[in-house]
Amino acid sequence: MERTLVIIKPDAVQRGLIGEITGRLENRGLKVVGVKMMWINRELAERHYCIHKDKSFYDNLIAYITSAPVVVQVWEGPKAIEIVRHTFGATQPLDANPGTVRADFGMQAERNLSHASDGPETAASEIANFFEPDELVEWTRCTDPWIMLKERGAAD
Ligand code: CDP
Ligand code: MG
Repeated sequence: MERTLVIIKPDAVQRGLIGEITGRLENRGLKVVGVKMMWINRELAERHYCIHKDKSFYDNLIAYITSAPVVVQVWEGPKAIEIVRHTFGATQPLDANPGTVRADFGMQAERNLSHASDGPETAASEIANFFEPDELVEWTRCTDPWIMLKERGAAD
């Protein structure tokens, strides 16, 4: 089953949207297997966003993500990576579809409330950046048969 890293960014925490964003992922049917609240330090921020280090928005992005506490989560489900990005919407809130988190609560990419991994390799490395293996919880949810067909793999 696929796993993906979510960060509820500082603006969303400050605005009291932890429950709203978490609820949307729960409502979709995804299962949470890791949660922590933390204040991201500069070193971790630079590791997490190293792919953007040459971008014009990089310094502002590092300042943003380290500006206040965040909530980081790992979500599990078939095609979890795509489903979370679909739930959050496009990077620029103006391009995000109505009904997505970024469209419903945001106006600018610099304050777009949420992060989600964009592929299987990035998901694995981002999860390892934020969680020790023993911080992730394997558990069975009794509603799973009503949400997904188990025999379907992540690639289906
Ligand atoms: O988060 P996502 O994968 O959708 O976008 P990204 O292209 O990986 O960029 C990472 C983050 O940088 C975005 O979520 C924005 O917070 C920020 N960003 C920005 O401030 N200005 C831009 N023009 C593009 C991205
Ligand atoms: Mg990205």
